[in-house]
Amino acid sequence: MPATEENCYTGCIMEYTYPEIRDTAEALRGQVTDPAGERAVLNGPELKALFAQIPMLPVEERGKFGQQANALRQELEAAFAELRASQEQASVSAIDVTAPFDINVPASERPKLLTADNGSVHPLMRERDYILDIFYRMGFTASESREIDDDYHMFSALNFPEGHPARDDYDTFMTEEGLIAPAHTSTMQNRLLKLYKPQLEAGEQIAVVVPDRAFRNEDLDVRHEHTFHQLEGIYVSKGVNVGHLLATLQTFLREYYQKDVDFKTQPFYFPFTEPSFEFALSCPFCDKAGCNICSYTGWIELLGCGMIHPNVLREAGIDPEIYTGFAWGGGIERLVMMKYSIEDIRHIFSGKLEFLRQFA
Ligand code: DAH
Repeated sequence: MPATEENCYTGCIMEYTYPEIRDTAEALRGQVTDPAGERAVLNGPELKALFAQIPMLPVEERGKFGQQANALRQELEAAFAELRASQEQASVSAIDVTAPFDINVPASERPKLLTADNGSVHPLMRERDYILDIFYRMGFTASESREIDDDYHMFSALNFPEGHPARDDYDTFMTEEGLIAPAHTSTMQNRLLKLYKPQLEAGEQIAVVVPDRAFRNEDLDVRHEHTFHQLEGIYVSKGVNVGHLLATLQTFLREYYQKDVDFKTQPFYFPFTEPSFEFALSCPFCDKAGCNICSYTGWIELLGCGMIHPNVLREAGIDPEIYTGFAWGGGIERLVMMKYSIEDIRHIFSGKLEFLRQFA
């Protein structure tokens, strides 16, 4: 049904029955092209001429004509409002989701966050801070890793020869451009060795841990997540040997589990260490008696470690004839799961409140 003065109250376009109003409507609709022109149209001569006619009309026509002239004015107002709204929408720029949070933005304009009493530090981050605290006390410093890296830092700088099958052990996610979501935090070795080389040459040691995210294209199960955290450690100085490596790890683990722990090593292969070891910890729950946490073996394979390969030192410009060092890398979730008897790694980032509240 076309709108008439009887059924058109708001927002609809009335069917104008007077030819002058119809013609004016047609002409003025064509002028709704720029919000800045609104005043010129609404106060312009065309509409004024319509209203000026009213006193000249026969008395019985005046009401109806006036109503239609008003309706046209409202129609044009609404058309300008719509035009303005659509232009404003189009000019809102897309949100840059990768932008860091700007602390200079006034508090009232920042995204609304939950108040502190509605949240708590994530248990894994709390443990990471506790782990860092131990290493700080042992004289280490800490560095972040990256979430996108390149082939050089993931493999080449770590003495993985081009096309070597060891590259396949890491189930690495790659982008179409050939960038890499790092499968270990050892990607920082070359950068940190270079960064702290002047310190080394000034007679100090390099002692850094890297607790950060790593990514692997894994089949997921109770022990494997595609995204997890690793603690990489490097130590370089003069006269460093395997004894220093093992004592450092044992000291850390005693402090972390707050009890005396034993360890054993067995030879292993990593391209970036020589010799390389797998480091197993005596089960902190049963003291080697055997329990379900250690699969009744008394031991838990915890991490990989070794003496930094001369090629890795050389690649960072450090002379392996003068300096030696050790490195290790292992999963942080693994340490934490053992400490709190968490049976499935997938709980940790499930976001389930019933899990998180146990640590609040
Ligand atoms: N990057 C190794 C991995 O993810 C772990 C590792 C082993 C790191 C030996 C080291 C190391 O620094 O020396 O499997």
